[in-house]
Amino acid sequence: MPDERTAGGGDRVVGGAAPESVDVNTPSVARMYDHYLGGKDNYEVDRLAVAELDKVVPSTRPLALNNRSFLRRVVDVLAREYGVRQFLDHGSGLPTQDNVHQVAQRVDPEARVVYVDNDPIVLAHGRALLEENTNTAVLQADMRDTDGIFGHPEVERLIDPAQPVAALFVSAMHCIPDDSERGGPAEVLGRVLERVPSGSFVVVNQLVSPHREIRDSVTSFMDESTGGQWGRVREAHEVARYFDGLDVLEPGLGWINDWRRDSDLIHKEPTDEWYEFGGVARKP
Ligand SMILES: C[S@@+](CC[C@H](N)C(=O)[O-])C[C@H]1O[C@@H](n2cnc3c(N)ncnc32)[C@H](O)[C@@H]1O
Repeated sequence: MPDERTAGGGDRVVGGAAPESVDVNTPSVARMYDHYLGGKDNYEVDRLAVAELDKVVPSTRPLALNNRSFLRRVVDVLAREYGVRQFLDHGSGLPTQDNVHQVAQRVDPEARVVYVDNDPIVLAHGRALLEENTNTAVLQADMRDTDGIFGHPEVERLIDPAQPVAALFVSAMHCIPDDSERGGPAEVLGRVLERVPSGSFVVVNQLVSPHREIRDSVTSFMDESTGGQWGRVREAHEVARYFDGLDVLEPGLGWINDWRRDSDLIHKEPTDEWYEFGGVARKP
């Protein structure tokens, strides 16, 4: 079970707010996403924001389901085919069905997972889910705080720095602006890659759209709704650049539904206005 320090209540605090500071008056990305996935850990303010967002991008629910299918496929493939036994899940979201540790521990019960999210509700619900599971932890932290995350006692307990790690940024980088004081997605990824050994993996995908009006309207809607907890809907070529210098695994970068789409886990529904673009790469 995560100790008190993971709740920000002890001697080593990563991230800012305490779990009890859930703001029920401002929509949160984690809770809106939970609503799209059919979860119950959301408030009216989140459901109203989802209804507004659906007017601009009506395909968002299948997009969220597609994304969750991708996450399950990636973790299963990395654990089963590449032997990965440690996962650092940045922007992990609220617990739902088939979380990363459940997928990985079906392959090997000793697989270790650290969940990182800056939304206090994730910590509150994650701790309840993980109470019995000594191979997992959940930290409330900003995923840009690489030093704080890698220096956290729970990461030091669960992640062996000599062994390959899978660093997940699944549907999370669009929450980060390009120019925050802790850097944009490329800088965050670069810092994580410096910390993990060769042979480690990164999984990165985010919201993209070829339509300028969709990119602009969703970005400003989400930025205003969440009180600035948002980055940008990007273009696919911008996300592809995050993978420069890495060995991209087959089938390459693209729409996440095309990643190992022969798997029986796929949720195939296409989305028109926007989609999740990315892939998986190995550190040389
Ligand atoms: C769309 S959800 C994705 C959840 C999960 N990775 C998945 O794909 O199912 C994005 C998550 O990123 C989290 N997030 C946003 N900005 C963050 C930040 N700066 N640090 C940590 N987590 C963040 C949100 O709270 C939310 O839970």
